[in-house]
Amino acid sequence: MEDAFLCAKDVVMLLQAKLVALRAKGESPGLSHASKQHISRTVSAYLSQLRLIHTAVREFLLQLAADPNAGTAATKLFKCLNAIAEELPGLQALEEGRPADLAAQVRQLRAAKLDDEIATMRTAIAALPPDVPVNCNTLEAVVRSLSHQEQSLDFHVKLAAEVSERFGHGAAYSIENFSYGSTPYTSWLQVLATAGPALQDAMGASGTREYVVWGSSCGWLVLYGVLTYGWRSRGVELLSCLHSCAERVVKEQEAALAGTKGVRFTCGDLLEDDISTAGLVVLADQCWDEELAAAAGDKLARELPTGALCVSYSGAGLQDKDVAKLAVAAAGDAPGDDCGDARKGEVALTCGSGAEDTRVFEEVVTVRARVSWSEAQTFRIFRKL
Ligand SMILES: C[S@@+](CC[C@H](N)C(=O)[O-])C[C@H]1O[C@@H](n2cnc3c(N)ncnc32)[C@H](O)[C@@H]1O
Repeated sequence: MEDAFLCAKDVVMLLQAKLVALRAKGESPGLSHASKQHISRTVSAYLSQLRLIHTAVREFLLQLAADPNAGTAATKLFKCLNAIAEELPGLQALEEGRPADLAAQVRQLRAAKLDDEIATMRTAIAALPPDVPVNCNTLEAVVRSLSHQEQSLDFHVKLAAEVSERFGHGAAYSIENFSYGSTPYTSWLQVLATAGPALQDAMGASGTREYVVWGSSCGWLVLYGVLTYGWRSRGVELLSCLHSCAERVVKEQEAALAGTKGVRFTCGDLLEDDISTAGLVVLADQCWDEELAAAAGDKLARELPTGALCVSYSGAGLQDKDVAKLAVAAAGDAPGDDCGDARKGEVALTCGSGAEDTRVFEEVVTVRARVSWSEAQTFRIFRKL
């Protein structure tokens, strides 16, 4: 079973790499019309193959969720992969009927990538200023444990089953709202480093401000925070299967975490979270539904303390958010009238008529860093005004 899943992962990676290369080629200057058309047709073909695999993998996972021994699940997935291998160069092992070899190669690559990741992490940690209370060994244990969990077939079976049971089909959130991805430690560190002194200002010296991750998945970003800067850290995650992974790692590292200012994971909807003591909020919003991103942005506009920072993978809910200065005053942040008692504490994003509009967030910096789904994901850092 696992071999089929690993082979599918390999085909997806190959298609994604080919798409990146083709898109770059398509942007090179001086291309003839015919070449551009050829590239565009190939991109469309690869995209439809990717869609096919995603559907086949989802069906495979859901079939296994219903019956863990369903042999037909792997047979069906291999059928889809073999058809693609016939058209896509670079999948000899599948074409020649050696899926176990391809799966073994994927396992080896993953192990080597994890070792690289850990080595890069240790180098980055060694370059941190001496007053940063980083716990390198526990971070390594956390990264190894979470990588192990996220690579297991069982993890993806549970994830697909929970999302399919609770969401889509007219529910509050779409299936795509729960696409899985992760961010390496070094990328997280790089993003926060670019915020510079704004970060220290936001978190304050007294340690009363919290570091919060909305959409905390299995806990990666939260654990990076508590084990690097020693911040009081917490995460909010709606899916119970991901929340359980985070809780599992906390249990594994109980002794090391006991010496920190505290780490907490809540399984629930971020729209119900209390953010009033946060200094830094990471929004894991790269694939959130538009409505969720907008509602999260509105909530931060109303409830986040002035000076706090938000890191967003999309910026969708935070950019261009203007409120009337008067409405900001209603939330207690600036002098002036307000929009009426009924709306106090609930910054009215539309009540600016006749008043001078002002932004709620200013963009501090934008940075690109590697994540599991892209070599150059944009991260945008905003400060609450
Ligand atoms: C793409 S993942 C985050 C991964 C993160 N960027 C990383 O690299 O570790 C987005 C997360 O948001 C969670 N999520 C989506 N809607 C949510 C909601 N309303 N409340 C809490 N979590 C939510 C999803 O379950 C998912 O785990």
